[in-house]
Amino acid sequence: MEAVDSLPLTLRVEGRRVLVVGGGHVATRRVLSLLAAGARLTVVSPAVTATLAELAADGAIDWRQRRYERDDLDGAWLVQTATDDRRVDDRVAADAEAACTWCLKGGDPGGATAWMPAVARVDDVAVAVSGGGDAGRASRLRDAVASALQSGELPLRHRTHHPGGSVALVGGGPGGPDLLTSRGRRLLAEADVVVVDRLAPLAVLDELSPDVEVVDVGKLPEHHPTPQDRINEILLEQARAGRRVVRLKGGDPYVLGRGGEERLACEAAGIPVEVVPGVTSAIAVPAAAGIPVTHRGVAAGFSVVTGHEELRELPARGDHTLVLLMGVKRLATTVAELVAAGHDPERPAAVVERGFRPDQRVTVATLATIAERAGAVGASSPAVTVIGDVVRLAPAWTER
Ligand SMILES: C[S@@+](CC[C@H](N)C(=O)[O-])C[C@H]1O[C@@H](n2cnc3c(N)ncnc32)[C@H](O)[C@@H]1O
Repeated sequence: MEAVDSLPLTLRVEGRRVLVVGGGHVATRRVLSLLAAGARLTVVSPAVTATLAELAADGAIDWRQRRYERDDLDGAWLVQTATDDRRVDDRVAADAEAACTWCLKGGDPGGATAWMPAVARVDDVAVAVSGGGDAGRASRLRDAVASALQSGELPLRHRTHHPGGSVALVGGGPGGPDLLTSRGRRLLAEADVVVVDRLAPLAVLDELSPDVEVVDVGKLPEHHPTPQDRINEILLEQARAGRRVVRLKGGDPYVLGRGGEERLACEAAGIPVEVVPGVTSAIAVPAAAGIPVTHRGVAAGFSVVTGHEELRELPARGDHTLVLLMGVKRLATTVAELVAAGHDPERPAAVVERGFRPDQRVTVATLATIAERAGAVGASSPAVTVIGDVVRLAPAWTER
């Protein structure tokens, strides 16, 4: 079969009659996809699967419980044969040819006048793959295309701008580009403008088309971070200009990331906004150092706080893990406050700097000594501090 003998088309079957001859599993799958596309289905078969029988009982399809007759083709735009009997399928195909009705033929692409492509749908994009009559080949190719579409490897960007822009608050994960979700990547592939933080996975920016604008709000020329109000304004200004904005943030947008404020600002301005979760550094950076935040028999829960707030309210038990984000420079003050609030100075503690980067460093000590140890090695941001018995599970603790 030469591919050049065929012409890919998309059929608008909604409201149009389609005949399916046969009532087995192949027929059932075809009926379900045709129904989803809005076709009016007639099924001719002495027996059908339970699914088809139920659809018939609900009035969703017209089931003629008998063998195929020539008149069944009347008024059908398209016919699918899927009986187990080659002679019946051949007869339907011959009748369809005579009636100028396109015929999909189960198990016999060579005798068909139409082939069903394997289809990948991602948002409003549909890609149909015809495998030259080889259905398995078509579906394998379709799966590869679908995953490339979902991961944002393919250029999904619209060339024309939409009248209304939108904002996606995308959690970029703890740094490595491979820890960004495929939904995040896809939105990046569709973005017109990307507003980034210092801790976002900046390597993914290299994959953007050259005409995508990147706004760095991690620092101004004088190295001061852009104030949150100004970031909100930038998001709104860009979206109002009809652009698809991705706000790429480190970790998860809702974990000490001010994602909630950005979402509310968009909603208040009537801008469509989507929040895409990310792998939070609060869990992933300890994990990168071999520290599970919970571990059966060691810790059943954990608290995530900044290194400078709410320290007095935290549970002081060894089986409750404390995860502190930010504030590595003021660790001595934090530790003093924790000890004053009743935390055991002998509890194991770890400072994990630059998680997932080639220069990741883990410093372990006890609560009493961690600040001094971190200071001695010159620990600096970004770093996550973990306090609790789970720290004993880190290789760095055993090697100490
Ligand atoms: C403003 S908070 C944002 C947290 C982010 N929303 C999240 O879910 O990971 C920034 C802090 O996250 C931590 N952090 C983020 N990425 C890190 C990394 N790769 N290594 C160590 N700490 C990191 C540091 O404590 C840093 O000061």
